[in-house]
Amino acid sequence: MKRVDDFRLRFGNKELVPIMIGGMGVDISTSALALEAARLGGIGHISDAMLPTVTDRHYDTKFVSQKQKQYKYNVTNNDKSSIKFDLEQVAEASRIHVRHTMSNKTGDGMIFINCMEKLTMNAPRDTLRVRMRAAMDEGIDGITLAAGLHLGSMALIEDHPRFHDVKLGLIVSSVRALQLFLRKTSKINRQLDYIVVEGPLAGGHLGFGMDWAKFDLRTITREVLDFLKAENLNIPVIPAGGIFTGSDAVSYLEEGSAAVQVATRFTVTQECGIPPNVQQEYFRASEEDIEVNQLSPTGYPMRMIKQCPATHSGIRPNCEAFGYVLDANGKCAYIDAYNREVAAHPDEKKIVVTDKMCLCTHMRNYDCWTCGHYAYRLKDTSHKLADGTYQILTAEHVFKDYQFSTDNKIALPEKIEA
Ligand SMILES: Cc1cc2nc3c(=O)[nH]c(=O)nc-3n(C[C@H](O)[C@H](O)[C@H](O)COP(=O)(O)O)c2cc1C
Repeated sequence: MKRVDDFRLRFGNKELVPIMIGGMGVDISTSALALEAARLGGIGHISDAMLPTVTDRHYDTKFVSQKQKQYKYNVTNNDKSSIKFDLEQVAEASRIHVRHTMSNKTGDGMIFINCMEKLTMNAPRDTLRVRMRAAMDEGIDGITLAAGLHLGSMALIEDHPRFHDVKLGLIVSSVRALQLFLRKTSKINRQLDYIVVEGPLAGGHLGFGMDWAKFDLRTITREVLDFLKAENLNIPVIPAGGIFTGSDAVSYLEEGSAAVQVATRFTVTQECGIPPNVQQEYFRASEEDIEVNQLSPTGYPMRMIKQCPATHSGIRPNCEAFGYVLDANGKCAYIDAYNREVAAHPDEKKIVVTDKMCLCTHMRNYDCWTCGHYAYRLKDTSHKLADGTYQILTAEHVFKDYQFSTDNKIALPEKIEA
């Protein structure tokens, strides 16, 4: 019976354990989590979502308060189009986070950064450009192009000295998205180093509509593998979404995938950024608690634990401090929903918005509990302690369970009584 450890992901003459921990913003896939994956010989991701906020928390910068102060005059204004990020500060935040991470790297693995196109920041091209370039400047091993088609993203970095050395990957949820990307980037002399095929059971935003349940990862992965073979393209394919055990992973590796990308099982590890009390909610979640909804103002469906504080909250948009999902025209669907409710209930002190949520504020505060479909199985991966809480795992334990388990088994950690 094969184990994940019987396979290797190859980049040139570099060999890796074929386990990649997916990017989880905002600072859910922390530097510490990515460093563990690299130490153990796999690939870890940091996320580049809302990094000025993240560096304020970890490295004592003051980016958020500076921006908030600069745009204080606009707080009660419905028009947020004038709220712009200082590109130098965006670059500096990326540099700090990537530098800190890369300078602490040990082991034979790699550390990539997840860059989401949907993080439009009221200047999509410019902010994506500085984020990717700053990460490359600071020696990131790879960039995963996420949450978007990224038709113009390669062009933003093609003159960077590390363009041919940094690993470049793309997340797709269909062959069509991949074909479109390849067609649009055909003039750029640079092949992708890997393709993540993300199916409908993943956490975070989904690359599907609300008919996501009609699709399945295995079929899409096979279609991508067949397409690449027909085109004579030798690019490692890495499926993601709902791969919960080592045996699940092996089944994909045996069918020709080069590695797997996994995330949900790492949400309950001590290296993960989710606060311990929220991690208990992940453990406790039942299948009925997990839903795919359209609350995200990005327009993509998102999977979450439905009783999280982000749903039905009507907080005032905080674009002066954050503003990460403002589109190229300074618009966000949550602002419109919030203003509609304010207009409908002018005397109400507490506004309730049920159709959209303020993604920036809630992700920043870990109040949007996004998770993969199988989060309800997390309780089977640890011990319930005498006080009713679940034992938090280590990233090493989960990583090695994926690497060495067989027969769909999940190894429990050594029990530590609270
Ligand atoms: C809490 C959480 C946050 C996530 N955030 C992101 C993100 O910011 N960008 C992204 O591309 N994918 C994100 N994802 C998707 C993962 O990187 C990964 O591809 C997917 O969840 C793998 O499926 P699994 O969680 O079933 O293992 C997130 C997943 C989770 C669970």
